[in-house]
Amino acid sequence: MEPGQTSMSEPIRFYYRGTVQTVTDAPLTRTILQHLRESMHCTGTKEGCAEGDCGACTVVVGELRDGKVELNTINSCIQFLPALDGKALFTVEDLKQADESLHPVQQAMVECHGSQCGFCTPGFVMSLWSLYLRQDGKTEPPTRDEINDALSGNLCRCTGYRPIIEAAQRMCTLPQVAFDHQSLSDALSELQRDQMLSYTAHSQTFHAPRTLEELMKVRAATPAACILAGSTDVGLWVTKQMRDLGDIIYLGQVAELKVMTEQSGVLEIGAGVSLNDAYAAVCRHYPAELSEMWQRFASLPIRNAGTLGGNVANGSPIGDSMPWLIALGAEIVLRSGTGQRVMPLENFYLDYQKTDLRADEFVEALRIPLPRTDGSRRTCFRTYKLAKRFDQDISAVCAAFAITLEGDIVRDARIAFGGMAAIPKRAGKTEMQLKGQTWNEATMTSAMTMLAQDYAPLSDMRASSGYRMKVAQNLLHRFWLETRLAAPLPDSAVNAFSCN
Ligand SMILES: Cc1cc2nc3c(=O)[nH]c(=O)nc-3n(C[C@H](O)[C@H](O)[C@H](O)COP(=O)(O)OP(=O)(O)OC[C@H]3O[C@@H](n4cnc5c(N)ncnc54)[C@H](O)[C@@H]3O)c2cc1C
Ligand code: FES
Ligand code: FES
Repeated sequence: MEPGQTSMSEPIRFYYRGTVQTVTDAPLTRTILQHLRESMHCTGTKEGCAEGDCGACTVVVGELRDGKVELNTINSCIQFLPALDGKALFTVEDLKQADESLHPVQQAMVECHGSQCGFCTPGFVMSLWSLYLRQDGKTEPPTRDEINDALSGNLCRCTGYRPIIEAAQRMCTLPQVAFDHQSLSDALSELQRDQMLSYTAHSQTFHAPRTLEELMKVRAATPAACILAGSTDVGLWVTKQMRDLGDIIYLGQVAELKVMTEQSGVLEIGAGVSLNDAYAAVCRHYPAELSEMWQRFASLPIRNAGTLGGNVANGSPIGDSMPWLIALGAEIVLRSGTGQRVMPLENFYLDYQKTDLRADEFVEALRIPLPRTDGSRRTCFRTYKLAKRFDQDISAVCAAFAITLEGDIVRDARIAFGGMAAIPKRAGKTEMQLKGQTWNEATMTSAMTMLAQDYAPLSDMRASSGYRMKVAQNLLHRFWLETRLAAPLPDSAVNAFSCN
């Protein structure tokens, strides 16, 4: 069967509570949460916001990656059921022990008084269970940072977080409950398909190609179909905007899109690599510059599901990855049946919500230059996120600066902002003004003024136009303070969140 040809619909199959579940008639955009609560009557998992923000719906999904089982938290309220095909689902119901005793995660929550009204509790328990599984074999309990990160997507309105954090520490001190990875791996192997899934319901089809070849064909055959990756933007088009997506092409099974390679000073990240894995890889090369952005990008369940390709393809003017990718000179790789196109990322954005992606194309990868020594030249790079909360918040302004210095002379400058224009945009005039100048306070001050020639930001619910311009200028000032040749300030002197 050729991708794109009309076929008999195949059922969605996933593993849940010891058996293979088969679904034949659910609409394509039925969420995992709706299916759990309304069809399977497993009501332990709750719905709070239906937009990935509160964590009440947190579940764990298991899948095979290179023959190994990976278990990650996701928000079931924004994930469509057909994307679960070939995977395993774990909910709070799975924690029930054969002898009716509580799982150590639950027991610790009881002992530490981690629950009051209890609405958020199943979500917290699943995030803690995922952390518990990652502790397997470690003698030390999780650190405070690991706990905070694991819980970054869970909100509690009545208990407060201290007892829950204590439960996260306590759970590892209780008698251990082992998890059978081998049985899960065997069950998942049984579920793998040798042909792509084409699931049709209500006259709409969910295509899940497994290879680049299949993806190219199905994209050419159904150019109007909605591309779906991690669903952390698209999911909300359905749950909040009630949009009908029509046919869907799901990228989550395309093995080639999940590959990362490093060659000739460039890190290439496949468009289907999760945000968490992508940021982990890039932070190995830019730890000081990008670790805070990694940690502050949404929450762990969103980063587990969402992809770097989706962030870039969505092209939101307030997306967090584009400014730093553009400042580093990253390229975007687009692919269709007729070949590849590669362009600087900044050229991909044409206007508000309008990109250069053609009807038969998809984003294949991002190519990110790695730090290099270039004779007497050195590049200073920083990115900053301004939002109302530390994590799980969209930026009001996101800035990235990269300047190449030879001695104290600016030889090259790349500056990009999110939240300052209709697209993620470079500050062309400011960059021109900086080139050839001495990197001193006077240069920095006039560059701050020049930013007003590059941008005319809007006022919206996140920030006013005046605020945005002011903080953009101040962030350039901060960048200079951190990178000036004489007495550069350490992170602890300029960053309210610094732990150093
Ligand atoms: C609670 C919450 C918090 C968030 N916080 C942040 C944040 O802090 N910073 C931030 O920048 N974003 C944030 N987001 C937005 C979102 O998580 C990111 O934009 C994410 O990277 C989208 O990736 P995805 O794989 O989920 O894309 P999807 O939702 O699947 O797709 C997004 C768009 O990209 C298209 N698309 C996806 N992949 C491709 C491809 N390979 N080729 C062509 N088109 C493609 C889709 O058709 C769609 O138009 C948040 C979202 C939520 C729900
Ligand atoms: S219901 Fe709030 S994150 Fe899903
Ligand atoms: S216990 Fe009530 S919201 Fe957390």
